[in-house]
Amino acid sequence: MAENLIIFNARLVTPLGTTARKGKEMAELMVMDNATVEVTDGLITYVGPSRGEERDGYYRRYWHYNARGRCLLPGFVDSHTHFVFGGERAEEFSWRLKGESYMSIMQRGGGIVSTVGATRACNFIQLRNNAETFLKRMSLMGVTTVEGKSGYGLDKDTELMQLRVMHSLANDERRRVDVVPTFLGAHAVPAEYAGRTDEYVDYLIREVMPCVVKNGLAEFCDVFCEQGVFSIEQSRRLLLAARQMGLALKLHADEIVPLGGAGLAAELDAVSADHLLHASDADIRAMAEHGVVATLLPLTAFALKEPYARGREMIDAGCAVALATDLNPGSCFSGSIPLTFALACIYMKMSIEEAITALTLNGAAALNRADRIGSIEVGKKGDFALLNTPNYHFLPYYIGMNCVQTTVKEGVLYPAG
Ligand code: NIG
Ligand code: FE
Repeated sequence: MAENLIIFNARLVTPLGTTARKGKEMAELMVMDNATVEVTDGLITYVGPSRGEERDGYYRRYWHYNARGRCLLPGFVDSHTHFVFGGERAEEFSWRLKGESYMSIMQRGGGIVSTVGATRACNFIQLRNNAETFLKRMSLMGVTTVEGKSGYGLDKDTELMQLRVMHSLANDERRRVDVVPTFLGAHAVPAEYAGRTDEYVDYLIREVMPCVVKNGLAEFCDVFCEQGVFSIEQSRRLLLAARQMGLALKLHADEIVPLGGAGLAAELDAVSADHLLHASDADIRAMAEHGVVATLLPLTAFALKEPYARGREMIDAGCAVALATDLNPGSCFSGSIPLTFALACIYMKMSIEEAITALTLNGAAALNRADRIGSIEVGKKGDFALLNTPNYHFLPYYIGMNCVQTTVKEGVLYPAG
């Protein structure tokens, strides 16, 4: 669905550009008071000073909306989630509260593999309904684009089913959120391949990936590059094959131990490296040099009680940093945009302006879409988050609570309250 819409009397707050903003540029936002934004057929056709829209019906064939001075931002881009899955892992969470670690639960057969069992037991409709519920909740927090990963099937049929669910949501006429699918067959080693990780990588490359690509079901390939899961060599082999088949690259890198995944991302010119809690200084420099978007997921560090990624240092080293939620049933059962803002600003020492860039234009860049979304500029999609306040400092200040009043998707208004 796409509409014609004029929002007037807004305080516009947006980064500018069609590529990722790096280093110091991340803090540069355009702020314009009493601004008008016009959306025609879902795309932005005017941004600038008022042209007299307050006079009712000035432009026929357009919905008119008076923002009354409140902040209008680009819709948020959540560029790293695992929102398509079956079941839940609340019990595992309670074990973690008693001191057990995420990796030890995984090593004794729980963790990701437990969600794999629950996901394989679902049919398409069940998976789609669950996933759609998450999208609706994210939309209420101002999110207009979400990346989603497979990786809870770990066999051809279920991996494809997860991706088909995303495909179906992405093509829904009434969608409130755009969906970008990522193939993450290398999320864990399934029980059938226990102790045979290399053979599982071969299986993914030979049998699953070609099918994913042939059916146009994913844009990216990702891998959980981690000690005890997929090594640097196995990750490199998988990602090189993916690139050859036409997929863009992402990595779960240096999440639990410093393995060098961020360096591998730079070596392969991946679009993004994600998590990065333990990325080394040299690898941070390499990411900056190679233009790899450093995607930080502070909700996961919070939920796992791990030290936060060094967002400040990464920006100071010239990286483009994106922020995302990592919504998933295990390490981080939260898709909270408000809490992501708060943690990034309080614990990763990012400024509010940098955090806004990280959740909009740099998130778009992490999805190869900075030319189409992520800022409020002519030619981009009419996707916005309209706050309930004229003060954008509320984004991290209003801790864990939503200050988005209305989400706009391609010119269609969806009030949050
Ligand atoms: O990004 N670390 C790997 N993948 C997810 C967790 C998935 C899960 O626990 O189900 C993450 O943290
Ligand atoms: Fe993840």
